[in-house]
This record gives sequence, C-alpha cells and structure tokens, in this order.
Amino acid sequence: MTFIVAVANQKGGVAKTTTAANVADAAARRGLRVLLVDLDPQGTASVLTGAIPQLETNRFGRTVEVTVSDALLGALPHEDADELPGTVLGVAVPTGQHWAESLWIAPANDSLAGCGDRTFDGQERRLAIGLEGAAGRYDLVVIDSPPTLGMLPLSALYAADGVLLVTEPADGSVFALAKAMTTIQRVRAARGQDAPQLLGALATMVPPQEGRARELVEHLRSEYGDELWATIPRRSVVRHAEGAQAPVHAFGSDAREVVTAYQHVTDRLLQAAHLAPAGAT
Ligand SMILES: Nc1ncnc2c1ncn2[C@@H]1O[C@H](COP(=O)(O)OP(=O)(O)O)[C@@H](O)[C@H]1O
Ligand SMILES: [Mg+2]
Repeated sequence: MTFIVAVANQKGGVAKTTTAANVADAAARRGLRVLLVDLDPQGTASVLTGAIPQLETNRFGRTVEVTVSDALLGALPHEDADELPGTVLGVAVPTGQHWAESLWIAPANDSLAGCGDRTFDGQERRLAIGLEGAAGRYDLVVIDSPPTLGMLPLSALYAADGVLLVTEPADGSVFALAKAMTTIQRVRAARGQDAPQLLGALATMVPPQEGRARELVEHLRSEYGDELWATIPRRSVVRHAEGAQAPVHAFGSDAREVVTAYQHVTDRLLQAAHLAPAGAT
C-alpha cells in the first residue's frame, strides 16, 4: 500500500515546499521509497531537490521537459506506468546529489499553470488516476500543493489519504487554514470516503519572540490540540539550504532545531500512515 499525503495551505510562503521536501527526504532516509509530487507551476520543489526532468520532442519539433502537467493532461491508468509519460510515475526522476537516493520527484514547471484552470469533467480526479500504480513502487507519496485555490490543490485533496496543514503564525495564513478544513470536508463528501483525513498541522517559521506570533501559536495549539505536530523555528539556515538545493540536515549544528522538528513530523507522519517500522515509537 502507498500512503499519499498532501501538504497544504492556499497561502504562499508558509513553508509548504520546505516541509514537503524535508519530510520526504527524512522518510526516504529511513528506508522508504518516496515520491515527491511538485504541484506548483513555480516548480519550487523541483528546483530545491535538483530535479532534472526528462526531455522529449513535442509535435512542433521543440525539446520540452516532461513534467507533472503531462501526467495531468494525459493521465490514464496503465500497468507499465513507470515507462510511460502520461502518468505521474512516468514523469518521475531521481532527486539531486544532496537528497536521499530513494527519494524521487515528479517535477513541475510553468506549463502546469495551464492545468489549473482547464475545465473538463472529472479533472479534479486526474492526479489520483495518474498516481494509480504507485502501490508497489513507492511507500509514500508527498504532494507539494501550490499557493492558490482551484483545480490543482483540489486535485491533491482528491488523491490524498491524509493532509498535513502548514502555516506560519500570521493572521492571514492561520485564517486560510480554517478554509482548508472546509474544503477537506467537502472533498471527503464528494469522494464518498473518509479520506482525506486531517493528519496534523504545523506552525512554521516561528520567530523567537513576537507577541502576535506567540498568540497565534497558542491559538493553533487550542484549535488543533495534539494534532499540532510541531512548531518549526524561523532560522536563516533554512534559506541557506534552499540556496544550496539541499535538505536542511546537510547544514550541521546550525540546523539542529529545525531538523529535530522535521524528524518529529516524519515520525508522526509515518505512524499515521502505518509506515513506521515495527517497534518504533
Ligand atoms: N523555518 C524556516 N526558517 C526560515 N526560513 C524558512 C523556514 N521555512 C521555510 N523558509 C523559507 O521561507 C521561504 C518560503 O518557504 P516555502 O517552503 O517555499 O513556502 P511555500 O511552499 O509555502 O510557498 C523559502 O525561502 C524558505 O527557504
Ligand atoms: Mg511552495
């Protein structure tokens, strides 16, 4: 069985991509086969993980990257999924040198922007269909959602077993989380399943001492209780890691608190996904 988790918040700049990539890497370093799906037309996760997309010649004779938008436009379930463009598995490539070997990525570029507003029946289910066949190839799929409303984040919710909500302690971002909960419930009703489940929430980029931020973290704690999985401190090392296209743990002792927090998030995720090794706490 493959567990699919969507990292979500319609707000940009709240550390969704940082969280998705670092947690996916941490899970892969524990021996799991992990696929990170970049669902943001800005391709931030693809750049961060040093993805080099496959190339193909399009019908106009131009060389183009094969990305997740090919999968969304052409997704059909297929047994030989990993040999075919047209499925999310078919567009996946290994991550760059700093990242775990068993972490692969389905990359995105700006061609994905067009997939966000195309409208045809059942479009919201295309990602889910494109991920069929993941079982047996990957233990965990982590979807990095875009900072928008609309078809792309919706299709992440249609594909996901669980959702990890991410917010910085700022009013607009916390407010956006409440809206995300409503959308999750609506998708669950439309799917006729109890998926996606809300797994947990993270307070990210938490500044050391700031009155309003502290109030908002307390608000999240009262709202989510034990489901507030972690508070991730704001540390400049995270931006350095991004600049180096590396996971945060590559940055030694400066990154310790952030790494420890993301390890804890990975523990909780793998437990929720029933992917934790037997006997692990
Ligand atoms: N804990 C943190 N401390 C400092 N900067 C962070 C932290 N987490 C993320 N960032 C930085 O904040 C910016 C936005 O993060 P990103 O993960 O791209 O957000 P999103 O995907 O929600 O738009 C990036 O430059 C990232 O490196
Ligand atoms: Mg992002």
